[in-house]
Amino acid sequence: MALALGAAPAALGQSPGDGGISPPESATPSGEAINQLYWFVFAICAVVFIFVESALVLFIIRFRRRRSSPEEAEGPQIHGNTRLEIIWTIIPAVILVGIAVVVLARSSAVEATSGNRSNELVVEVQGHQFYWQYVYPDGQIAIDTLVLPVDRPVRLELVSYDVNHSWWVPELTGKRDAIPGRTNELSFTPTREGVYEGRCAELCGVFHTVMPTTVEVVAEPEFQSRLQLLSGQDQRGATQLALGRETWDRVCAKCHGLAGEGDLGPPVEQSPTLVDSESLVELLENGQDTADNESYMPPVGRGWPDFQVEALIAYIRSNERLAAPQPAQEGGDG
Ligand code: CUA
Repeated sequence: MALALGAAPAALGQSPGDGGISPPESATPSGEAINQLYWFVFAICAVVFIFVESALVLFIIRFRRRRSSPEEAEGPQIHGNTRLEIIWTIIPAVILVGIAVVVLARSSAVEATSGNRSNELVVEVQGHQFYWQYVYPDGQIAIDTLVLPVDRPVRLELVSYDVNHSWWVPELTGKRDAIPGRTNELSFTPTREGVYEGRCAELCGVFHTVMPTTVEVVAEPEFQSRLQLLSGQDQRGATQLALGRETWDRVCAKCHGLAGEGDLGPPVEQSPTLVDSESLVELLENGQDTADNESYMPPVGRGWPDFQVEALIAYIRSNERLAAPQPAQEGGDG
């Protein structure tokens, strides 16, 4: 008890991410509403806890066996007290109903966005084993890191291409599942620039732990220029290579190593499959699932647009450790 009481102020005062019991300071009004509900429920629980524990300690001391009474002496035999039992049933019921009413009344504030609704940014969030792919309205792709403009309403459309995942960035808003076969939505408005860390909050397989995500909230002009750096349709050259590299580093390399040297997955450097677009697409789309489960590979590239596969192959071809340099093309049809 003394230990718990001593630790409580320290736990309360800890900053977000330190494992303290206070929720992180929120960068959105939705998160603010969640934090208010958290403290509301916390305060009620604290009062109940202190009341119950004090009564317990008081009764232990007050009604303990005294040295003056003989060891075999029994206390008064009591057979219930209807009035008391009704009271201690009704009070918790009233408390629970009160909490439910307040939470339901405030839940619209958790879902609410601020700012101009017509300016809403819709981003598709794809959960994959084991990365997050973000697709912007014009088709630009980002992996694991989502850049958002400040003070503009955002609607995330969460989907999954394999198993259940859960998108959770505590400083922005509550978590929401990405489930195969349906689209879940999550709306909020980031009102503070900054970098916010999140992670997949649903155990989704052997590499669930390497499914973190980062959200960078930046000013609108910076958002626009960052968006232009992301590859979309019809982009070649450096932007295409950047997407290919991001795809390799954040999708393939998590299992096969940055240079394809192998890690959880087998080594793949110099593998002919890497540069054969037909067999590569087949592998990315369907994964590999042998009966003995020895060489399982998730269908990591399910749902990728063609230009992302092309970007990946272009990057692999540009990387000498991953693929042997291509023989120089001869003139004409070679
Ligand atoms: Cu995805 Cu855990």
